[in-house]
Amino acid sequence: MTTAKWIAVACVLAVIQPPVKARVMFDIVRTDVSLSEWDSLLFTVHWPVTTCLIWKEGKPGHTCILPENHVWTIHGIWPNQDGKEGPFFCNRTWIFNPDQLGTLRPQLLKVWPNIHGNDTEDSLWKHEWEKHGTCAALDPKFGSEQLYFNQGIQWVKNYHITKILSQHLIVPSMSTRYNVTLIHKALKDVIGAIPSLSCEYDKDTGNIYLSEIRLCFQRDMVLVDCKHNQQLGAVQSVTNCPTNKLIIYPGKASFIKTSRQHKRMFHQKVHNHSKHNPK
Ligand SMILES: *[C@@H]1O[C@H](CO)[C@@H](O)[C@H](O)[C@H]1NC(C)=O
Ligand SMILES: *[C@@H]1O[C@H](CO)[C@@H](O)[C@H](O)[C@H]1NC(C)=O
Ligand SMILES: *[C@@H]1O[C@H](CO)[C@@H](O)[C@H](O)[C@H]1NC(C)=O
Ligand SMILES: *[C@@H]1O[C@H](CO)[C@@H](O)[C@H](O)[C@H]1NC(C)=O
Repeated sequence: MTTAKWIAVACVLAVIQPPVKARVMFDIVRTDVSLSEWDSLLFTVHWPVTTCLIWKEGKPGHTCILPENHVWTIHGIWPNQDGKEGPFFCNRTWIFNPDQLGTLRPQLLKVWPNIHGNDTEDSLWKHEWEKHGTCAALDPKFGSEQLYFNQGIQWVKNYHITKILSQHLIVPSMSTRYNVTLIHKALKDVIGAIPSLSCEYDKDTGNIYLSEIRLCFQRDMVLVDCKHNQQLGAVQSVTNCPTNKLIIYPGKASFIKTSRQHKRMFHQKVHNHSKHNPK
């Protein structure tokens, strides 16, 4: 079992990779970064069960900490330049300082928790701050850890993904498979803008798991439609999830079993399903 078998089915806004030379540049201390380096923000939430599944498959012995209330949690707030990913790591000297979170910590533990049981409690925050937060901070609106992380808390309150989905009878499940076009439509209708969905594909089993939902904002914090990716051409929705196959929104119960048993169950389901509904 290696992470290599997980293919993030071509990330919607990440398809256009910066040339290698440009990427190397991000790894040295930037002195030339400026506000004009990004013009939009992706607010990304992930489904902890899928995050956990991938983490566990990554290395035997990996454990997860799933949030008690079984909700979508924050992955990060990512500044982007139109049509490409990043910038990243805009200030290598601005190391994450947990003390700067102050009173936000208890709330962040609920809405922006680290799922990877083998990492420290702060590990996701540290990564997000140093990779993305230092770039967001080029804008005074995000000019401190407090401001950056607090924005996540505000957005997660405004956009209650778990509730929106359940109101449309889209609930985590081991047995039901969902049409991503309908998930997309449910979110778009309630939120009022086109979100971007992302899936993880397990090539051993052929299972496709819903993993992330991203909302797109302009720099001035106005919610906008996430853009269609040219390279996805005919695909109707802004997603890297297949629209011609049903996907899994996995329930927490998945993890009462070992991942091997879990896989076998899904395998059987697919088998039984195809027997009754030949395609
Ligand atoms: C992860 O953490 C668990 C529980 O602390 C431990 O048993 C396991 O050995 C760790 N695995 C790795 C790969 O570090
Ligand atoms: C980078 O971070 C350091 C440490 O927080 C800060 O003093 C400095 O002003 C920052 N540099 C830029 C260009 O923002
Ligand atoms: C999903 O729903 C759309 C719209 O109703 C439909 O056109 C499409 O065939 C469905 N996809 C699957 C895989 O069932
Ligand atoms: C698949 O079908 C067989 C018999 O038709 C049944 O015994 C088995 O429990 C089913 N598996 C699942 C996962 O539903």
